[in-house]
Amino acid sequence: MTSAGGAAFAPEWLALREGADAEARSERAAEVVRDLGRVVADLGCGTGSLGRWLAPRLSGSERWVLFDRDPGLLALARETVPVNRVRTRELDLASLRARDLDGVTLVAASALLDLLTRAEVETLAGAVVAAGCPALLTLTVVGRVELSPADPLDARVGRAFDDHQRRGGRLGPDAAAVAAEVFEGLGARTHAFASPWRLGPDRADLLREWLRGWVGAAVEQEPGLPVAGYLERRLEQCGRGGLRAVVHHTDLVVLPGSAGTAASSGSAGAVRPPGTESS
Ligand SMILES: C[S@@+](CC[C@H](N)C(=O)[O-])C[C@H]1O[C@@H](n2cnc3c(N)ncnc32)[C@H](O)[C@@H]1O
Repeated sequence: MTSAGGAAFAPEWLALREGADAEARSERAAEVVRDLGRVVADLGCGTGSLGRWLAPRLSGSERWVLFDRDPGLLALARETVPVNRVRTRELDLASLRARDLDGVTLVAASALLDLLTRAEVETLAGAVVAAGCPALLTLTVVGRVELSPADPLDARVGRAFDDHQRRGGRLGPDAAAVAAEVFEGLGARTHAFASPWRLGPDRADLLREWLRGWVGAAVEQEPGLPVAGYLERRLEQCGRGGLRAVVHHTDLVVLPGSAGTAASSGSAGAVRPPGTESS
């Protein structure tokens, strides 16, 4: 769940989801970039959750540069990413340039792409490709939620939520597919890995907050949505341990094109539909 783009992200919400994020991110995607992360740029770092997960999975990670436009989150992140040298950059990623990535060997992000517009993804991809960097872009929502037990209203709530995610031109559930297309158009190769949240009784607090946000955003988007009693019903099921949710996400690995930097190769690599595990 993400707040409106431009709005602040509460550290409490980021803390509540950190365990589920850690379980969801694809180990296979991390394995692909394991030897590439000597100097990492974490774009939209929040409180540093991705660094706490990824840094120990990289061989010889020496330095992280944490980017966010929220100085409060940057201050929290600075102290907690487990590498010796951590620097923060307060920056709106809409203005990211290749020179901001000087010396960076791996670009990383988590729960970011779906907040961005197509223009912002093009800017980000242009900077990453021009810098010749590989990237690991994790936990992008794909607009697929499975609740168990199912309820006839699930699909309508899901559709309204997805439309809410797309407000203001944000990519929401289209982000992983658009990002793959943009990167490949610039000559990079992309590989998608499934990274679903699996929420059940062991994550009841998160499931409850996610449900409130999911239904709340859907109703905000579509005030006439006939969901009277739906949230109460779902929360009651959650309260007695009788509800499970799979919230699908994609992790995208971006590798420079074959002829030196991706920008110069002009050849698209293997295309895998986001949301599916690559081989
Ligand atoms: C959903 S939070 C994810 C935070 C963190 N990556 C994590 O996984 O916990 C999205 C983060 O991206 C940052 N963000 C969103 N749009 C941004 C932009 N245009 N420029 C810089 N930071 C941005 C927000 O401030 C927030 O910290």
